[in-house]
Amino acid sequence: MSIRHFLTLFDLSSNELIDLIDRAQVIKNTHIASDLGTLMSGMTMVMLFEKVSTRTRISFEIAATQFGGHTLFLESQHSQLSRGEPLSDTSRVISSMADLIVMRTSSHDRIVTLAEFSKIPVINAMSNSYHPCQILADVLTFTEKKGSIRDAKVSWVGDGNNVCHSWMNAAVKFNFDLQLACPPEHGPDPDILEVTKNRVSLTHKPEKAVAGSDLVVTDTWHSMGYERAKEKYEQDFSNFTVTKSLMQLAHESALFMHCLPAYRGKEVVAEVIDGPQSVVWEEAENRLHAQKALIEFLLT
Ligand code: CP
Ligand code: NVA
Repeated sequence: MSIRHFLTLFDLSSNELIDLIDRAQVIKNTHIASDLGTLMSGMTMVMLFEKVSTRTRISFEIAATQFGGHTLFLESQHSQLSRGEPLSDTSRVISSMADLIVMRTSSHDRIVTLAEFSKIPVINAMSNSYHPCQILADVLTFTEKKGSIRDAKVSWVGDGNNVCHSWMNAAVKFNFDLQLACPPEHGPDPDILEVTKNRVSLTHKPEKAVAGSDLVVTDTWHSMGYERAKEKYEQDFSNFTVTKSLMQLAHESALFMHCLPAYRGKEVVAEVIDGPQSVVWEEAENRLHAQKALIEFLLT
């Protein structure tokens, strides 16, 4: 059987993704099911990180612990990658000894190269282009709170970034409508918009995107690696804060999501992220459960 990787949501079929969300719910509800406590027994998951992380790192490490496995956390600056060893060689070496690779990096091409030379499954723990593990957790959270996300109306307010791109992919794979509101110079990758346009639309007006929505999602205006020109960014994004009055345009029972870390007073006001519609803590916890289902899918 050929190895499966999880670099974007397009690596799994819609049915596989729906089953994975169902399985994540079962795993969550049974906590450490006895048949999963040894799933990774004797196995090692190498975590190759080229950017910092809180949630992604701890959720993957805890998932491996609860599955009876071991993780090896390698920051690229502490490996020979920092001295110019090709990623293809690193991939061959890691995959000759380990069982799973989780990589967080900048250019998405790096993770594609890693997977190309790997004999074991590779998981994208976020690149500049995509953050598919986050969206598994977010769809799990929506499903728990509201039932199936199919045909729901989701709105994204803010930067057309990696998390936004994975939401766009999710709209196609899970069949829901996604309305993006991004500032003119900060829209999503046009190629991704082209591929997802049946389910995704783009406006520059947050009020338009949010109207009647079941879920409002945002993220930082300054993704890692894009911290330059802060003043211009803040000017460009000045109308893109998720405020209470913006939330009032959504469905009255709409949820609010943010992958975190959040910057209160910038992309969202404290009243919203710390208010009753916010499910950000559930989203963060669900990283663990969704990724456990993903690890099980890739290893078995
Ligand atoms: N949401 C998320 O991926 O958080 P970290 O950067 O802390 O891993
Ligand atoms: N868009 C953010 C997500 C962090 C989890 C970033 O890339 O920094």
